[in-house]
Amino acid sequence: MHALMLVPYDLVWIVVEAGGVTNETASIIAKSGLRTIHVGFSQRMPNSWEARHKLESRMRLHALRIVRKEKLDGVVVFADDSNMHSMELFDEAQNVNWIGAVSVGILLHSDESSYMVQSEEEGASMPVQGPACNATDKLVGWHTFNSLQYTGRSAVYIDDRAPVLPRKLEWSGFVLNSRLVWKDVDGKPEWVKDLDKFDGVDEEIETPLSLLKSTSVVEPLGNCGRQVLLWWLRVEARTDSKFPSRWIIDPPLDITIPSKRSPWPDAPPELPSNEKVLTNTQEQTNKPSTRTKSPRSRRSRSKKKHDTKVIGVQVSTYSEQN
Ligand SMILES: *[C@@H]1O[C@H](CO)[C@@H](O)[C@H](O)[C@H]1NC(C)=O
Ligand SMILES: *[C@@H]1O[C@H](CO)[C@@H](O)[C@H](O)[C@H]1NC(C)=O
Repeated sequence: MHALMLVPYDLVWIVVEAGGVTNETASIIAKSGLRTIHVGFSQRMPNSWEARHKLESRMRLHALRIVRKEKLDGVVVFADDSNMHSMELFDEAQNVNWIGAVSVGILLHSDESSYMVQSEEEGASMPVQGPACNATDKLVGWHTFNSLQYTGRSAVYIDDRAPVLPRKLEWSGFVLNSRLVWKDVDGKPEWVKDLDKFDGVDEEIETPLSLLKSTSVVEPLGNCGRQVLLWWLRVEARTDSKFPSRWIIDPPLDITIPSKRSPWPDAPPELPSNEKVLTNTQEQTNKPSTRTKSPRSRRSRSKKKHDTKVIGVQVSTYSEQN
């Protein structure tokens, strides 16, 4: 939300909420002061990552249907709660003709040191998803995330203590001209499928590439993908998290004061065979009255945004997981 608030273009934020719209989400997005379109999606967020990713794709498609119905005019950016954006992304998005792709840096978190060792051997390079170009800056393929090294070791359910892997290509790595999804518009390329084709078969859509008959039309943006314009890191609160409960902190926190030093210890705390880590960290570094907001206990929110003129975001707040 804060990234969107900084975007220096006329912007509409489309929020699709799993399980139906709630007042809590409405009040949060209202605080952005942005023009928003907040709609519900009847299905609730499922418990497994696989099912969740699928539902999120369907929710994004739902947002595109709104773009089509309302004839929203501009560039669609798929923002996500799992993303950190460089503001340059929103400038670069202006250059898209029909559909463009940018590079997404993948920040995998894991709590097993073996993964870290592994990545050190590989030079600790950050995996990047995005368009691959040849020497003459023409799209020749995709850099995708290699999940093989995580086979059998990645999170299946949202509270698994294991790395959460990105999709092969994340939606957030694409931007598109909203007219691509409009009905009956002059000059619309014939290589794009009609959105109506997906009615009832939403599951077939995995990324914006599913909308195309040929992927060779994708325009590589950000210096042909060499510039990473956003990052991906997926974190979700455990289903049994108690804070914040229904977005309300009750009783309210006492006064909040800045801590004298970073609440994060230099050496990582011993990792968890139980759930006490956060508590320990706070106790060992903070004075009693200092409360640091608990690290990103974001509820199962997953949004998607868009920028420039059109923004579609899907927030699925409380997935009560069933
Ligand atoms: C949500 O807000 C509307 C309008 O303020 C109100 O009428 C409704 O009762 C609220 N719903 C819940 C569940 O709080
Ligand atoms: C790059 O790809 C384009 C399109 O496939 C091709 O026409 C061009 O010759 C390629 N350039 C090089 C240097 O391979």
